[in-house]
Amino acid sequence: MTLLLPLVLVAYIVLYAFALSIPLHLHAVSSLIGGSRGLSGGYAQVQQPLKETLGDWVEREERIALERLLANVAPGGKDLEGVVEGSVVASPSREEPDYFYQWVRDAAITTSTLVDLYADDPSSQLSSSLSTILDAYANLQYTLQHTNNPSGTFSDLSGLGEPKFEIDGAPFVGNWGRPQRDGPALRAITLMAYLRAYNASHPWLWTSDSGEDWFKPLYDPKMPANSIIKADLEYVSHFWNESGFDLWEEVEGLHFFTAMVQMRALREGADLALAFGDDGAAEWYKLQAAYMEAFIPQFWDTQKGHLVETLESKRSGLDCGLLLGSLHGFPAAYANATHTPIYPPHSDEILVSLLALVQDQRTRFPINAAPPSSEDEEEDIVLEGVGLGRYPEDVYDGYGNKHSGGNPWFLCTSSAAEVLFRTAAHVSSTSSLTITDLSLPFYEALLASSSLDVDTGSYGPSDAVFHSVIERLVQTGDEFLSVVKKHAGAEGELSEQFDRNTGYMRGARDLTWSYGAFLQAGRARKATWGLGL
Ligand code: NOJ
Ligand code: NOJ
Repeated sequence: MTLLLPLVLVAYIVLYAFALSIPLHLHAVSSLIGGSRGLSGGYAQVQQPLKETLGDWVEREERIALERLLANVAPGGKDLEGVVEGSVVASPSREEPDYFYQWVRDAAITTSTLVDLYADDPSSQLSSSLSTILDAYANLQYTLQHTNNPSGTFSDLSGLGEPKFEIDGAPFVGNWGRPQRDGPALRAITLMAYLRAYNASHPWLWTSDSGEDWFKPLYDPKMPANSIIKADLEYVSHFWNESGFDLWEEVEGLHFFTAMVQMRALREGADLALAFGDDGAAEWYKLQAAYMEAFIPQFWDTQKGHLVETLESKRSGLDCGLLLGSLHGFPAAYANATHTPIYPPHSDEILVSLLALVQDQRTRFPINAAPPSSEDEEEDIVLEGVGLGRYPEDVYDGYGNKHSGGNPWFLCTSSAAEVLFRTAAHVSSTSSLTITDLSLPFYEALLASSSLDVDTGSYGPSDAVFHSVIERLVQTGDEFLSVVKKHAGAEGELSEQFDRNTGYMRGARDLTWSYGAFLQAGRARKATWGLGL
């Protein structure tokens, strides 16, 4: 470790101190989770107060979501016999649908939420349980990477594109949409965040002998790459321009979500490589990230006036993957960091794409039906919280291949809230709001109920529009969370979907990703507290 460049590391830690400073007020969770029942205990009976505001509910649901999320994670989860330690099971549902597998994507996304919780307060009781899980997750990823599977092998890295494994870590050999190239990028992002968080909480480790044992399995400049993060970065840097299946595992091509997380992995990977004195790799990852920055604008469709999820696809391109790509491609803390944002949640392109998706879903799903508008309102485009599904053409009903039609998904509905909360926080923290020709329809829809006139131009804290926008962003985010609240189960449980006609939950029960997406929306909501609303 003496070889390593302490100065670079200091800069690196300072840079990411931002990434670790997001407040989270889940204090109660540590006692809940770390209490006498331990991680595998029964679900907490969280009393519902008599008069509960949405904010109260969000906090209550955050505790439930974390507990139920952890129930699907080994070690510690409930009823997970046979599940190898370090696994995140997509859902406990073993038939109709059988989601009792570990998907690389779901696992990485879920685990990144656990890393955020760990980073909030590494010395908490919750964090000591989390660090056991995070270490097990990291170890298992090494095994999965080295497991030959239908996508390929480790030796030429092709096997890293395999999307899903059995719960004992064996390869899944059934037919599937493979490869899926977002997995290695998401996993690298999650493990890099863990490496930074752990390094920050164990500042002596980097220069100590035992540090080598901890860091090396995660990142080692040695080639051919055999450390977990480096192998994933090599995969991303060599395969990002090859087609693969989308995050919904259905269509082959080049996808916005995949590209956004790949670009983020390469950018952060370049920073990490530098911290490890791996200068050549840093250059290579940076170069590929630059190519990706030039490539990603192809997802903007000028004619349609919104981003599209897959290039050269017959679909409309409106897709919850656009929101997810923006959220996972651009971490909140990067507002303070060095990378130029590309399609962050507050960008005009993401906001107008969100508006177009909401417009579609609002009329597509009967449960979203807006009250009949009065005549003079008929032409108005309104932005309001509704249940959002994956994409307009979706036919997956959540149970199998009957294809009886798509429905709203909890994780998409929560993600819309997160985009709006993060936009509010961004506008507030930069003290400036610029409304362009492109974003005008979004802001007009957002402020529909307001008597304020909006026009293109720049607004600041001395303008009423500026404050109204922030207020409406938060209110509309809350409307999306109210939809989640309305369709959640009596115990706060979240499945994958809720029925477009009846509103009842359907699809895989206790979907781990539903809980993770909700927790992230909750974090983003907290970052809007105290914005002077
Ligand atoms: C399971 C996949 O994960 C899902 O995305 C897909 O829509 C259904 N199978 C139906 O093909
Ligand atoms: C189906 C979803 O389309 C896909 O994104 C997810 O990875 C699997 N279900 C498992 O949750």
